[in-house]
Amino acid sequence: MTDQRSSRPLNAPVTVVGLGPMGLALAETLLERGHPTTVWNRTPEKADGLLAKGAHRARTVAEALSASPVAIVCLKDYETMYAVLDPAGDALRGRVLVNLNSGTPGEARTAVGWASGRAAGYLDGAVMVPPPLVGNPESVFLYSGSQDVFDGHRETLATLGDPRYLGSDPGLAVLYNAALLDMMYATMNGFLHATALVGSAKVPAVAFADLALNWFMPTVLDATLVEQAADLDKGHYPGELGTMEMNLNALEHITRTCVEQGVHSEQPRLMRAIAERAIADGRGGENYLAVFEVFKEATRVS
Ligand SMILES: NC(=O)c1ccc[n+]([C@@H]2O[C@H](COP(=O)([O-])OP(=O)(O)OC[C@H]3O[C@@H](n4cnc5c(N)ncnc54)[C@H](OP(=O)(O)O)[C@@H]3O)[C@@H](O)[C@H]2O)c1
Repeated sequence: MTDQRSSRPLNAPVTVVGLGPMGLALAETLLERGHPTTVWNRTPEKADGLLAKGAHRARTVAEALSASPVAIVCLKDYETMYAVLDPAGDALRGRVLVNLNSGTPGEARTAVGWASGRAAGYLDGAVMVPPPLVGNPESVFLYSGSQDVFDGHRETLATLGDPRYLGSDPGLAVLYNAALLDMMYATMNGFLHATALVGSAKVPAVAFADLALNWFMPTVLDATLVEQAADLDKGHYPGELGTMEMNLNALEHITRTCVEQGVHSEQPRLMRAIAERAIADGRGGENYLAVFEVFKEATRVS
């Protein structure tokens, strides 16, 4: 399709299925950037604000899918996607689905077979930003699975943010998503727990945050994690500047300080148990990054 005056391609029509906070942000961004946008949601009133911006509200899922070559699906989970799209039957044939709901790698791989059984193309993805940041060119969107689908719709996907293709394994996007959120929650909990610990001596969070984060970035993030990431790939954990035994001692002090100050101590106890496991595995003389070897194993149930 082309604009006859300029012979430039018109923005591709897109369907958005699912208008929770994320689906609404996706549809709004597509409309703002000039994509003819058709929407469907179980609760149709959620589309009211989009209609004023030019969206077309489909009465059925089948009508929504038929309106565009590509449908961005942003529902609660994979089960919801099947429940919503299965009744559309033949309307899936020849369409492309880009699924942005969260889930597990196994669920993403199963979805590829489900889509191909209905003659639909399929790309799995994950949104790495909250709804207000959708449409920002730096906002990371992860995709994996069919490279043909990714390449064919890259321009449309770039409307939403920075599209990163991770590879042909369809499970990779949600695996990265889980890994990055794992890191986010662990880091936030680290900061929040540390703030609660100094808070036990009536130190305000604002007073601690500045010192803590300015210490953390160069000392831990840059000097330890970024510089030594290559050692993780090699399994190389030289302990001459500090051993696992020394770190266990530090974790013991943290745990005892939490108890003494009357704050929650399960988080440091868990970290202490992980270091003890590394030592039991013979890594007492290696540096702290050797806990990576513990994390690579399935949890041992004793
Ligand atoms: N919000 C965020 O910050 C964020 C960030 C990154 C990724 N995500 C991911 O994006 C996906 C959507 O998230 P969200 O925040 O928009 O809200 P959500 O609460 O996870 O999903 C809401 C959507 O799912 C629909 N839905 C739920 N149960 C349904 C059912 N049984 N039948 C039909 N439709 C059903 C809702 O329809 P109704 O409107 O009718 O209830 C709505 O369209 C999730 O997988 C989430 O993990 C969200």
